[in-house]
Amino acid sequence: MSNEKFLLLRTLNGERAERPPVWFMRQAGRSLPEYRALRERHSMLNLIRTPELAAEVTLQPIERFGFDAAIIFADILNPLMGMGMDLDFHDGKGPIFSNPIRTEADIHQLIVSDPEETVGYTMAALKIVREALDKRGISLIGFCGAPFSLAAYMVEGASTRDGLRVKHLMIDNPEAWGVLQKKLVTYSAQYLAAQVKAGAQCLQIFDSSVGLVTPHQYRTHILPWVKELIGLVRERTDVPVIYFPFNGDGLLADVTTLESTGVSIDWRISLHDASSILNRHRSVPFVLQGNLDPALLCCELRALEEGVAMLLQESAALSVPHIVNLGHGVTPQSSIENIGRAVEMVKAFRYS
Ligand code: CP3
Repeated sequence: MSNEKFLLLRTLNGERAERPPVWFMRQAGRSLPEYRALRERHSMLNLIRTPELAAEVTLQPIERFGFDAAIIFADILNPLMGMGMDLDFHDGKGPIFSNPIRTEADIHQLIVSDPEETVGYTMAALKIVREALDKRGISLIGFCGAPFSLAAYMVEGASTRDGLRVKHLMIDNPEAWGVLQKKLVTYSAQYLAAQVKAGAQCLQIFDSSVGLVTPHQYRTHILPWVKELIGLVRERTDVPVIYFPFNGDGLLADVTTLESTGVSIDWRISLHDASSILNRHRSVPFVLQGNLDPALLCCELRALEEGVAMLLQESAALSVPHIVNLGHGVTPQSSIENIGRAVEMVKAFRYS
């Protein structure tokens, strides 16, 4: 029996083991019947705020599919309630803030609370999950939203197609933008450090909305704050950090200047091309994560198998360590059979 213990952590540590580790963003959630059963009795926020339930949901995909890592069940947006944002999740409409940031005064009113006090339920859930996973050698991931993506939701009040309001603030009022970003960075760094203290062994920063901006906007108004966040996390913890710039292929030449351990990429660019842009000038290369198209989880099994086989071939040809993941989250329409088959194929694979 080969050693598969903490394969995710070992890979992030630069080790190229016998095979890549596998976990999926949104592996817990509405694709699973056992999650939907719990959701009939509890709201999304209730699940997140009840440590025993959040722990149960986190473990559901581990029990069913045998992923190499668990990601704590929460959302990128619920921690913002600890800054004074009033969040609700509406079925069909997604997250909504009833008090979006619309004026400078709104920014000044945001509180940088102590996340241990305001969102301590996630730390309590992490403790339960870590205890359950440690003896099995399964790694535990904590996370937060990146400061730009959080600001996009706070300013727009909900998901946005064009990001007009958040760009208006960022471009036309850089001073107020800086105040908002600073608060988000300070709060998020504390939140991530608290997650590590509670048992998270690795952290992922989701920059889900960054595909809205130009490379120049990214470089000027966004990247410096991601750098500051990663710098603060590095000062306070010693765990690996993965940065996920969703839909950000055009930004990779700038992403290469970050001090994260890994970068997660979507399906719009090949692993090979992403690695050559990201790792060209680096002495310590980024670990790459990705990048299966989540749509394949909703297609015929044959198509999924072809997609996974191709990804594993690409993985074998890479010169840097690789983590198998999707290019974005599991969708609710995904086939359970396909998810299971994808995990099985990765776990049966060996680098020759
Ligand atoms: O990956 C995981 O399994 C961990 C849990 C997790 C959730 N959201 C649970 C969730 C994580 C890491 C997130 C991150 C998140 N949340 C992001 C970044 C990743 C991405 O998708 O780009 C973003 C942008 C959000 C904001 C968010 N939360 C939206 C837009 C929505 C509505 C869309 C949807 O899928 O319903 C959510 C709700 C949400 N977050 C659900 C889950 C399981 C569905 C809630 C439900 O109805 O049960």
